Amino acid sequence: MRSTLAAFPAARFRRTRASAALRDLTQENRLSVKDLIWPVFIRDGKDMVEPIASMPGVPRLSIDRVVMAAEEAATLGIPAICLFPYTDPALKTETCEEAWNPDNLANRAIRAIKAAVPQIAVMTDVALDPYNANGHDGLVRDGIIVNDETVEALVKMALAQADSGADILGPSDMMDGRIGAMRAALEAAGHKDVTILSYSAKYASAFYGPFRDAVGASGALKGDKKTYQMNPGNSDEALRLIARDLSEGADMVMVKPGMPYLDICRRVKDTFGVPTYAYQVSGEYSMIRGAADHGWIDGEKAMMESLLAFKRAGCDGILTYFAPAAARLLGPAY
Ligand code: PBG
Repeated sequence: MRSTLAAFPAARFRRTRASAALRDLTQENRLSVKDLIWPVFIRDGKDMVEPIASMPGVPRLSIDRVVMAAEEAATLGIPAICLFPYTDPALKTETCEEAWNPDNLANRAIRAIKAAVPQIAVMTDVALDPYNANGHDGLVRDGIIVNDETVEALVKMALAQADSGADILGPSDMMDGRIGAMRAALEAAGHKDVTILSYSAKYASAFYGPFRDAVGASGALKGDKKTYQMNPGNSDEALRLIARDLSEGADMVMVKPGMPYLDICRRVKDTFGVPTYAYQVSGEYSMIRGAADHGWIDGEKAMMESLLAFKRAGCDGILTYFAPAAARLLGPAY
């Protein structure tokens, strides 16, 4: 302990909890609008706001609507928006070439947002699952998710996103060697300031279910992702993955999912002291929102408590579908 404890009644912990003013003054961790990254789902079309049954309150937006969302985010003070495309099933193939099409939905959305709201950082998803007839994040050959060929495909995808103006690339695929390959390709292409927020410690989780509905990958996915995403029983391995990704050129690192893995967030921050983010994933969102919609919990309070927990666990920021709702409560930050 850093302080020597006086004995009761000299020490009464309830003194600093007795009023809102004292509670505010003694609060150790605080959430700000500047800590938020807002993940949004995009789809083709015009003026489309399409509900997603398993994610109440989170729609798929057409590009014109996502530009409006980015404007709203900027007004609220949210620093970054993260794009996830719902790809037309007709464009999904086993070779996934739509992933690096400069005119695919995600790349068109990046250009539209950067043209209209240049001050907002646009983050992308680098993984093949939205474009893959097999629903996997990597190329599948004879039932095996092949690593090295997938990395070559991911590099093409990352370069197309950087060329479109992406500020933050988010490789969520969990292939080995992808950060180094992307960083080398970005440098060679003159994209020296494009940042990589690596999904370094991404677990094979049941909490991604609603997301897979949102991007239309649930039907396509054959099997599970356990040969590339982490075993939920592991903790030391997360540190080795973070060390590896940092050594290959990641600027920021992520732990995913969020709330079931707060212990990993804390270990990562304490061990490396690097910009550390958590992804409060779709299943976490839908649990809180679903319970709130039934009147079983206070949705607003549960949302704010869950987000503050990430700050307490050492995170510098949170990817959360609650971003605009939380931002409205938090108000602008200095
Ligand atoms: C896939 C990807 C997933 C998420 C982000 N990128 C799902 C998966 O790995 O199957 C999950 C996000 C969420 O659940 O909110 N590349």
